[in-house]
Amino acid sequence: RPRVLSGIQPTADSFHLGNYLGALRQWVALQDTHDAFYCVVDLHAITVPYDPEVLRRRTRVAAAQLFAIGIDPERSTLFVQSHVREHAELAWVLGCLTGFGEASRMTQFKDKSAKQGTSATSVGLFTYPVLQAADILLYQADQVPVGEDQRQHLELTRTLAQRFNHRFGETFVTPEAYIPEATAKITDLQEPTAKMSKSSSSPQGILDLLDDPGPLRKKVMRAVTDTGTEIVADEENKPGVTNLLRIYSALSETPIPDLESRYAGQGYGALKKDLAQAVLDTFTPIRERTEKLLADEEQLDRLLARGADRASAVARQTMDAVRDRVGFLGRA
Ligand code: TYM
Repeated sequence: RPRVLSGIQPTADSFHLGNYLGALRQWVALQDTHDAFYCVVDLHAITVPYDPEVLRRRTRVAAAQLFAIGIDPERSTLFVQSHVREHAELAWVLGCLTGFGEASRMTQFKDKSAKQGTSATSVGLFTYPVLQAADILLYQADQVPVGEDQRQHLELTRTLAQRFNHRFGETFVTPEAYIPEATAKITDLQEPTAKMSKSSSSPQGILDLLDDPGPLRKKVMRAVTDTGTEIVADEENKPGVTNLLRIYSALSETPIPDLESRYAGQGYGALKKDLAQAVLDTFTPIRERTEKLLADEEQLDRLLARGADRASAVARQTMDAVRDRVGFLGRA
């Protein structure tokens, strides 16, 4: 079986619809065909200012949501990144193979550091993509299911894998990004040309998996639509409606042209009403399962410990090979 690996940051109290459609739904589906490794990337979460107790809580909530959407601990390895020490170790080695200029070209770093200002920006934020490459390469992943915003990080990962293999001998699989186009970029409901994002969207622009039904419905009904009343997908002239159609199409597994004809002549209200219901039908069971899982922290922590054991076994093997190839003296 080919292998997949992906990660998600525990940097909010809830994952949102962009995370769900852009990545997490694929995580669930890929379990059927792939040997799957999924991690909650807490090391990445500390690259920006944070509170330790909040991080600990969010890490559990993140894991609970992943199990709740259907990641099956029997079939997949779900773990917390900091439980497997090799991530940090491989990141150091890869960092020494990464050009300063190369890392400086990462657009996510440029955006985030511009927002924070240089004095508030950590070196960890700068080397963030190198740690991400380590996450992927440690597990020899063939494919990495992510949203469009991660494409450049995946390119860097491929470059580093090839560079290492060329310099030290064949060691890493060169992974491919897995980014289904239809849901690669879900946009903000209030600002439909911008990505739906936990760090930059307003609460009204984001649909959180753990939101209550009332606010979810309201946010969908108040989503910014475009001038005119026609319901057609037209990225350029109608980004708002296009985003809603994309979301509804993905949630209801109905092709966009079918939706366009179904809602022809009905106006935005009808589409929004049905979309709101589809969102609730998807999110409500996830929220309820998440709450149940969080009610038994010991059981949740045990599941994560098992995941970490399985992940460690793979990571250790890769790292042993890396240590040898790069010339570290073996410990007697
Ligand atoms: P993160 O935590 O920001 O987001 C998790 C996943 O959600 C996707 N995503 C979106 N997809 C479509 N539309 C959106 N509006 C949207 N917003 C977020 C992201 O593309 C991502 O797939 N750097 C990664 C975490 C990471 C990782 C890894 C991923 C760390 N190590 C190794 C893959 C493999 C990130 O910040 O994701």
